[in-house]
Amino acid sequence: MSLYDDVARILIPEDVLQPRVRSLAEEINQVFTDQDFPLLVCILKGAFVFLADLTRHLTFRHEVDFMVISSYGSGTVSSGVVRILLDLERSIEGRHVLIVEDIVDTGRTLDYITRNLRTRHPASLRICTLLNKPSRREIDVPLHFVGFDIPDEFVIGYGLDFAEAYRNLPFIGVLKPEAIARER
Ligand code: PRP
Repeated sequence: MSLYDDVARILIPEDVLQPRVRSLAEEINQVFTDQDFPLLVCILKGAFVFLADLTRHLTFRHEVDFMVISSYGSGTVSSGVVRILLDLERSIEGRHVLIVEDIVDTGRTLDYITRNLRTRHPASLRICTLLNKPSRREIDVPLHFVGFDIPDEFVIGYGLDFAEAYRNLPFIGVLKPEAIARER
């Protein structure tokens, strides 16, 4: 029994995912310069795999920092409650900031984060998300770089979890219902 046996199907295989991460990086490379020295804000935990791949395709000088945000608990549906568990190390006043997310679902998490970061007066604030579920949106947030629009399915892999597992899968997949039921 392996964690791969819990995957019902692969939504985005690795050989589609990786070229898209590279082309997203190329889009971002058009926007920032070395002089901008932007700060990439990785929203943990889910975005750590995406950030690690993305950052290695970026050609301009940049810094990375991390925020730990929790909104889902261990379930598959957003609780709508957003908490900052770990904040940025330093001030972002006057800095160009790029938020790096794994997925935008209801938009509540990013709405909270962008409103929070704007109060800190960055020079600019942009959002990059690997995955976007437009059909689930409750709050409109401007997304500047989007890897894939996906249907309303609970996805795991490439940083995304179910009950903290499956983040290490190298593709985006859909879980079998029995794997979800086991945790309930
Ligand atoms: C996920 C994801 C986003 C958020 C999106 O985080 O990483 O931050 O949910 O959902 P929303 O648009 O409905 O707010 P999660 O709370 O699962 O934490 P994790 O990244 O630590 O897995």
